[in-house]
Amino acid sequence: MDPHRQDAPDAARERHARLDALTRDPYPLYDRARAAEGLTFVPEFDAWLVARDADVREVLRRPDDFSSANVLRGDVRPSPAALAVLGGGFGGAGVVVNSDGAAHRRLRAPLVRALSAARVAKLVPYVRERAEALVESFAARGRVELMEAYARRLPGEVVGKLVGLDPADVPRAVHGGYQAERLLFRPLDEAAQVAAAEDVVAMQRVMDGYVRDRRAAPRDDLCTELVAALAPGPADQPLTLEQRHELVAQLQNFLLAGHLTTTALTGTTVLHLLRSPDRWKLLTEEPARIPAAIEEAARYDTAVQAFRRTTTRDVSLAGTELAEGSTLLVAFGAAGRDAARHPRPADFDVERQQNGRHLAFGLGVHGCVGELLAREQLRITLELLTRRLPGLRLADDRPAVTMRPTLIHRAPEALHLTW
Ligand code: HEM
Repeated sequence: MDPHRQDAPDAARERHARLDALTRDPYPLYDRARAAEGLTFVPEFDAWLVARDADVREVLRRPDDFSSANVLRGDVRPSPAALAVLGGGFGGAGVVVNSDGAAHRRLRAPLVRALSAARVAKLVPYVRERAEALVESFAARGRVELMEAYARRLPGEVVGKLVGLDPADVPRAVHGGYQAERLLFRPLDEAAQVAAAEDVVAMQRVMDGYVRDRRAAPRDDLCTELVAALAPGPADQPLTLEQRHELVAQLQNFLLAGHLTTTALTGTTVLHLLRSPDRWKLLTEEPARIPAAIEEAARYDTAVQAFRRTTTRDVSLAGTELAEGSTLLVAFGAAGRDAARHPRPADFDVERQQNGRHLAFGLGVHGCVGELLAREQLRITLELLTRRLPGLRLADDRPAVTMRPTLIHRAPEALHLTW
């Protein structure tokens, strides 16, 4: 099944209902795929599912055979009207996550520098200050919906600070990111698609203002570094249109990679910790266990569940013969539940000794450049919540928590908490 085909309305609704069910809880599908021989073709994703830890590692270690070109392919094709709106914005340029070889190395290098341990350490005071301000904004209330009041805010503010955005521009940048994701992954009616496309283009215009400004007046921020690395030239030489397209695409992708993911893992981690009051109590009494609890949450129920790869030649993987041009869905989230590497994989155990590195942040040439920053935000969040709100618990007067229907930023739809 080609996810980009234009289905009749009923068929499209059915296809999305199946996709929703699979993505809200992909774990039964992963279990079947790991138990099956070879790889499992999943028509809803139009891809071969790679679900075993060893197979995921093998794909990630062979970027020449498994290209990232289609990594960001969405589940729906925007309508012609939405595409026309997007055509008036900034699109088309490759970004770090969907490029290969030398093009990928060129785009990745400035990001690796910007997210070094020393640079992340410099950001930590800001993370702490913003995290404390957000928690104080609701601490006296006795209850909160954590996704809206905290998890969807902190990561956008932090990645915005790293890039060099004015705090006033962060909400629009974050909203544009969510709208871009909805446009590619959610079935929206025509009016909602056009509105989403307009929000995406508005966000791109703001980013374009930044790159042109930083060319003329460099500052100490990632936006300036991207301009210098990807479009070197003197301050009085304006960027070409092509350079602006490329730079806006990098910023849009980087912001999204930085905030959607961290928002998601923040919500999921708090959810799993609070599902057992003993776990939460243990962390309030022994905060030194927080880093291990974060690793366990990332292994157990990660934010980026899966990304695609495409074979560049005929290859054999796990005994399945794949023709050149085959699409794989490489499931980091399934690898985290593989009993061959993680004993009792379905148990969320904050005292677990991890068996080597889990794959929640990927591996190899495309491995996450922001993992250190993500871990720091999670650590600061949990240290703050356990200290400030030790009596935190899931609100029992609300319906059961449901997960968002997505594989790229798995998160609770909402997280109502009380204390
Ligand atoms: C909990 C949070 C996060 C998770 C679970 C996560 C997960 C991942 C994964 C699995 C990949 C590998 C993609 C692939 O192999 O195709 C990746 C790549 C990437 N991540 Fe993260 N990430 C997180 C946070 C961040 C943050 C905070 C930033 C930036 C501030 C970031 C920036 C990136 C970028 C730019 C790439 C692409 C690297 C490349 O293609 O070379 N991520 N991330």
